[in-house]
Parts: sequence; C-alpha cells; structure tokens
Amino acid sequence: MKIIAVNGSPRKNGNTAEILKCVLEGAAAKGAETELIQLAELDFSGCKSCFGCKLKNGRSYGKCALSDGLTPVLEKVAAADGVVMGSPIYFSAETGLYRNFLERLFFPFLKYSDPPSSVAPKRLQTAFVYTMNVRENDPAFEGYKAYLEKTHFFPKLIFSSTFVEALYVHDTFQFSDYSLYESEMFDAAAKAEVRKNRFPQDCRRAFELGGRLAESC
Ligand SMILES: Cc1cc2nc3c(=O)[nH]c(=O)nc-3n(C[C@H](O)[C@H](O)[C@H](O)COP(=O)(O)O)c2cc1C
Repeated sequence: MKIIAVNGSPRKNGNTAEILKCVLEGAAAKGAETELIQLAELDFSGCKSCFGCKLKNGRSYGKCALSDGLTPVLEKVAAADGVVMGSPIYFSAETGLYRNFLERLFFPFLKYSDPPSSVAPKRLQTAFVYTMNVRENDPAFEGYKAYLEKTHFFPKLIFSSTFVEALYVHDTFQFSDYSLYESEMFDAAAKAEVRKNRFPQDCRRAFELGGRLAESC
C-alpha cells in the first residue's frame, strides 16, 4: 500500500510539511509505504486548457498532455492507494502552487459526460491538510472552510474516494523569532504558547488521520 503526501507550501520545512510528515508517520505505522513530494522543488505549470486529455482517440486521452516537472508526480499519485494533499492558506485560499497541482491532477480524469464521470483507472483515498494563522473560532475560518470543502467533492467523483477527510491546523508559527519581523498584529507570546502546546496535538491528530487513511486503502 502506497500513500503519497504532496506539500503545496513554498516552505519545505514549514508547518504544512511538518503536519504532512505526521500524517505519513501515522500511515507508515499501519504498514503503508510513504513518500513526501515537495511541489516547491518542481518546475511545472497549471492546466493550460489544451484539452489533450479529452481528445477522442488522442494519444494523451485520460492523462495530462503537458510534459514538465509534475509529470512523474502525477503518474505516481495516480498509481498510489492514498494521497494527502496539504497547503497553507494564502489570502483565504490554497497557494497557487497547490492549485496548479490540483488542476493537473483532477482535470485529465474528469470525463465531460452527462452527468460528469471519471476515467481514473483506480480508486485513490484522499486526505487534505490546511495550515493557517486564523484561529478555529475566527469567523473568517467558516468562510475558508466553506470554500475549501467545494474541492473535497472532487476526489469522490474523480478517484471514487470513499475516504475523504480534512485536517485544519490553526494559529501556526510563521517566524522562529517574531521580534525580527513587522508583525504587530500577532501576539508573539500567545503564538509561542500555541506552538509549544497546541501544535503537538495537531501533529497527533495528523498521525491519527494518517492511520485512518491507510486503514481505508
Ligand atoms: C502570502 C501569505 C498569505 C497568507 N494568508 C493567510 C490568510 O489569508 N489566512 C490565514 O489564516 N493565514 C494566512 N497566511 C499564514 C499561513 O497560512 C500560515 O502561516 C501557514 O501555516 C504557513 O504554512 P507553511 O509554514 O507550511 O508555509 C498567509 C501567509 C502568507 C505567506
């Protein structure tokens, strides 16, 4: 059983990467072979709307016609049993890096039938991880969640995922030393407290999510 984590943060060792690693540890504890992919290391674009993946009898039918740094990753993810995709929240949404990946992952398998269906060769179980500054009780979070949940529908349609779960990690640490940066809107002491006491709990929740993801595969 193979489970792949995809980090949509430009920071390869940031909060999102840490949480994804915990998900993978949880999956490995249930016997999964795991791999972490850092999108920031790859040279790739989003979907170019060439429709090569939908051209009847075309040589790229059902797969992305683009060839770049993401191509081997798309092949790996499609062949895996589970995937956990992670992104920080940037301006109330996922990073552009992450959306570029999602467009390329989802679109080739989406069949423009009526109703829409999928040409994916196999089932892929799915988890999502998001890290952000806002606290869980911040009204802005409800808006983020409503937006993000729209994307959680697609693995069900495209990958026949019967397991789709999301983990939201709040009030993350952005700098190791808040005094060095212009950051008056944050309470550095409160942030340090969350990092010390809350973040390990988030890692535990991530580990458990990884276990459930692996068990579902
Ligand atoms: C460009 C940018 C925009 C951000 N926008 C938001 C935002 O709208 N809401 C929020 O809660 N956090 C926002 N953040 C904070 C990050 O989501 C948060 O620090 C996240 O945990 C960073 O993940 P990383 O450590 O994996 O890079 C933003 C950070 C950056 C750099």
